[in-house]
Amino acid sequence: MKITITNELSLEPINLDHKEALAYYLNDIDIFNNTLKIPYPYTLQNAEDWIQQVMKLESLQSLTNNWAIVQKNNGLIGGLGLHQMYGPDSHKDEIGYWVAKPFWNNGIMTQVLRVFCEYCFEHRELSRIEAGVFNFNKASMRVLEKAGFKKEGYLKKCFIKNGRYIDSVLYANVL
Ligand SMILES: CC(C)(COP(=O)(O)OP(=O)(O)OC[C@H]1O[C@@H](n2cnc3c(N)ncnc32)[C@H](O)[C@@H]1OP(=O)(O)O)[C@@H](O)C(=O)NCCC(=O)NCCS
Repeated sequence: MKITITNELSLEPINLDHKEALAYYLNDIDIFNNTLKIPYPYTLQNAEDWIQQVMKLESLQSLTNNWAIVQKNNGLIGGLGLHQMYGPDSHKDEIGYWVAKPFWNNGIMTQVLRVFCEYCFEHRELSRIEAGVFNFNKASMRVLEKAGFKKEGYLKKCFIKNGRYIDSVLYANVL
């Protein structure tokens, strides 16, 4: 199934048709620096392995948690995922997302988050969606605020990346 965001934008379950665009856009140091688990450099093999793994798990669970952000004329331009942080039956989950650099600052992620959260509240029985942002990621914090998330806390030394601690700012959108 697809989730319509606007006339131009939709979310599609991630699949192997997306692998070239995924590998092309995720091979970006600025995306690596602002996220926890995306490797850099990012290869076609990384894309293929990750998509295979996601598709296997999602077909076992009969649940889509990883979506391609698709623009009508450009195909995949970003990604969005629920991490199942608290298990598949929980009322809450954590969200992660990225948009390819050529499309930054056009309001895309804000639009996607607004509609996707409504979808989760209505169709996924979630009543709390969390996002943990590196404390230096101003663009992501701004997006969350514009999309209706509220800042709830500051978590010191929450993550380790490249052998260095990173503080996290916790946001949540609560039904
Ligand atoms: C964070 C990210 C998803 C935002 O996507 P986007 O489609 O560009 O977001 P939007 O256009 O909806 O909104 C961006 C907002 O951040 C603001 N912004 C951008 N860079 C900024 C900066 N350095 N300081 C402060 N605000 C900034 C923009 O001005 C805009 O706010 P405005 O509408 O008030 O002007 C994108 O930058 C990205 O993929 N970054 C790398 C991966 C990442 O950080 N993922 C999130 C991990 S928590």
